[in-house]
Amino acid sequence: MERRIITSQVLEEDKATEFGLRPQTLDEYIGQEKTKNNLKVYIEAAKKRHEPLDHVLFYGPPGLGKTTLAGIIANEMDVNLKVTSGPAIGKPGEMAAILSNLKDGDLLFVDEIHRLNRQVEEVLYPAMEDYSIDVVIGKGTGARSIRLDLPKFTLVGATTRAGMLSAPLRDRFGVVHHLEFYEVEELKEIVERSAKKLGVEIDSEGALELARRSRGTPRLANRMLKRVRDFAQVKYDGIITKEVASFALNLLEVDTLGLDINDRNIILTIIDKFSGGPVGLDTLAAAIGEDAGTIEDVYEPYLVKNGLINRTPKGRVATDIAYEHFKRVKNS
Ligand code: ADE
Repeated sequence: MERRIITSQVLEEDKATEFGLRPQTLDEYIGQEKTKNNLKVYIEAAKKRHEPLDHVLFYGPPGLGKTTLAGIIANEMDVNLKVTSGPAIGKPGEMAAILSNLKDGDLLFVDEIHRLNRQVEEVLYPAMEDYSIDVVIGKGTGARSIRLDLPKFTLVGATTRAGMLSAPLRDRFGVVHHLEFYEVEELKEIVERSAKKLGVEIDSEGALELARRSRGTPRLANRMLKRVRDFAQVKYDGIITKEVASFALNLLEVDTLGLDINDRNIILTIIDKFSGGPVGLDTLAAAIGEDAGTIEDVYEPYLVKNGLINRTPKGRVATDIAYEHFKRVKNS
């Protein structure tokens, strides 16, 4: 696998494109009220004490703002942001190098932190707890370990799977927040804000339609807004109305509940191939040719939240709401 350490410089470049719509401050950030309000207090308190913020863990489905919040924390604390990810760091020495290159107060963001291997993770324990790392010098009987001091930094970890994090790592985060799916009204506000930034006109009904169909997820809302804008500019008069949004989203195969082709595949496989379930996660994964972990972390949370499927001890079950949405008749 390609190893890369994404530094703040790369993030700067990306800001022009995908990152361009991201809010830069907590006041600009829409939704996740509980997380936001708590972070405001922690940031203000840390700044008053002239200390770095305690280590923060964000968990929840993709696209809900974990990376955005890390950027905002760095901004609000007025510190540098270094970005890396679990799969990008293969060896303990690589983690040690990243940590020892940090400056006082820096924020290190580790995306997909559950994918760090155990040896790399172990470098983090003393780093997070005492701002130090143990470095082994020499080999065999002559090997000895020396302790190196690190600058005081803040680790912000993000994961879609808090359950996959080892207890010693999880326990070293002073602040742990679960990010929730966004309400339609919040997404509408996000879409309107993004449209303004992109310089595209959108009416209230158009924004509402996008919000309803963006799966509770700002990343999808913003991505779909850009595509809908294309249709508005080429096929219509440039203004995103409900009609334009609906036309474009139908072409993009996003349905009225925001479900995409993968969501439909999961639900319809349960209904059509497994008589509505229960079907075990691994069996379901094999039937649709998708990784079980991806189904569990990426697709299922939204389907469960919206009452389309249930997780039962015997496996996944399609609900009456799912049957109704897909106009299927239950054989009983
Ligand atoms: N763009 C993406 N996520 C956002 C959020 N939570 N608030 C405002 N703009 C956003």
